[in-house]
Amino acid sequence: MIHLNGEFMPIEEAKISVLDRGFIFGDGVYEVIPAYSRKPFRLAEHLARLQASLEAIRIANPHETAKWAELVGRIIAGNPWEDQNVYLQITRGVAKRDHAFPKGLKPTVFLMASELIPPSAELVKTGAAAIVVPDFRWLRCDIKSTSLLGNCMLRTLAADESCVEAILVREGELTEASASNVFVVKRGTVLAPPKSHLILPGITYDVVLEILRDNAIPHEVRSVKESELRSADEVWVTSSSREVLPITTLDGRPVGHGQGAGKPGPVGARVYALYQEFKARVMRAPAHA
Ligand SMILES: Cc1ncc(COP(=O)(O)O)c(C=O)c1O
Repeated sequence: MIHLNGEFMPIEEAKISVLDRGFIFGDGVYEVIPAYSRKPFRLAEHLARLQASLEAIRIANPHETAKWAELVGRIIAGNPWEDQNVYLQITRGVAKRDHAFPKGLKPTVFLMASELIPPSAELVKTGAAAIVVPDFRWLRCDIKSTSLLGNCMLRTLAADESCVEAILVREGELTEASASNVFVVKRGTVLAPPKSHLILPGITYDVVLEILRDNAIPHEVRSVKESELRSADEVWVTSSSREVLPITTLDGRPVGHGQGAGKPGPVGARVYALYQEFKARVMRAPAHA
């Protein structure tokens, strides 16, 4: 079951105008909210990021927080899976094709869900392969825009090489990956590129930083050079669906040194375990957290 502009229906029945600016220009924003045991994870944070994306592209938020919570709840209840990804998209609406944002449109609101399948224990144990490529996207990567052509092109370059992710560098510095944030470990310290217009402020990125802080795991939020990425002891990607996934090869070369080369490292394994604990704790709590 999906939601479109105030109505719930099977996805096959959902129709939008070909003049919807989401279709014509990619003029819209979105969120992907994981739900575990039918409870949305970090809903308030996802809705705050949605608000920031809407403000950045001058779309008035069509709903109050309580209404969003209700819509998300109804989508979760109306779909068969215990664990789901709730996808939520708002576009500017329908108008004659003209680039400048027209005023007074009624935004198109769409929600759907899919089964949430986290990376297998096997993949977390062996780690995954990534490529490193130039970040040729625009300069507002902080907006969770539906215009994802750059990200799709970059992810396809990774898929061409049988890799799960494309890790991106701009002017010699790590930004993020095509659909995840990136953390690097150097000599026991976790490094994370700071939030800026060059990366999406990941909800999982924030959870991981909280975990690092709460467990006194040495970390620094600072720019990371491409050379530091390539010589890292550990590399992980984080996202709502990937959680904390170790990357064990970059461009076919093993990540890490000595006996640990090409294998997931100890810091990532610890953070992965703490992330699972965190999720379980939040999901056991009576109210949404
Ligand atoms: C480009 C990009 N960076 C980072 C992320 C991670 O964000 P989150 O942790 O909120 O899923 C995503 C999520 O899909 C993304 O598309």
